[in-house]
Amino acid sequence: MQLPSPPGRASVTRTRMGDKMGQITTCIFDAYGTLFDVNAAARAMAAMPGQGDFAAIWQQVAADWRAKQLQYTWLRTLTGAHCDFWQVTQDGLDWALERAGHTDPALRAQLLDLYRHLPAYPEGPGVLAALKQAGVARAILSNGSPDMLAAAVASAGIADLLDDVLSVEAVGRFKPHPSVYDLVGARFSTRPDQVLFVSSNGWDIAGAAAYGFDTIWINRTGDPVDRLPGRPAAIARDLGAVPARLGV
Ligand code: LAC
Repeated sequence: MQLPSPPGRASVTRTRMGDKMGQITTCIFDAYGTLFDVNAAARAMAAMPGQGDFAAIWQQVAADWRAKQLQYTWLRTLTGAHCDFWQVTQDGLDWALERAGHTDPALRAQLLDLYRHLPAYPEGPGVLAALKQAGVARAILSNGSPDMLAAAVASAGIADLLDDVLSVEAVGRFKPHPSVYDLVGARFSTRPDQVLFVSSNGWDIAGAAAYGFDTIWINRTGDPVDRLPGRPAAIARDLGAVPARLGV
């Protein structure tokens, strides 16, 4: 009997995904930048009436805010000077606004309020719903403090789509410290190879891959892969690729 013709690339990929589907039980999402659009606070502020000056510089402020926020997490974990993510979020914003020459307290307060209620990326809720339907466990694992995450999850309307929201505050260190990734196994009784970790942060993906999770890097801006020990197992432009990674 004649054998079927050799599988094309799609079939090979499907076979690999089939293996993954059998093995992976739990899908863990980073929050800020992955499920929640971190640039939305400064963008929304810039779009408000009378914000002409801020509208001209909002992209630089948003970039500085995010960069400093993250640098402070790494430096505070490295130096043993932990504080929660709300504090580094405020500190990063203060640095960014001072650099931009916009130190108006009302502007600061409005930006922080917007940050507490960031929108989800549009494809996120549908992806979470598809995973829920398929019986895959779903949770957030984030640097965010529990109160920040609760506010963001509620305003994005995704609370019913998540089994849990895990915060680094349980271990008092920020990502990518391995003790943060340990929270997943402690909550879901999983081995690392039973977990798909999803993040838009290349350094977070590197940490998760080195830890032993399967990973998908959501590379919305087409950045190069970080030169760190852990490499992403898969790369996608948005969260829409996550169900296929699990064969769902
Ligand atoms: C988080 C940061 C990395 O949500 O954005 O953990």
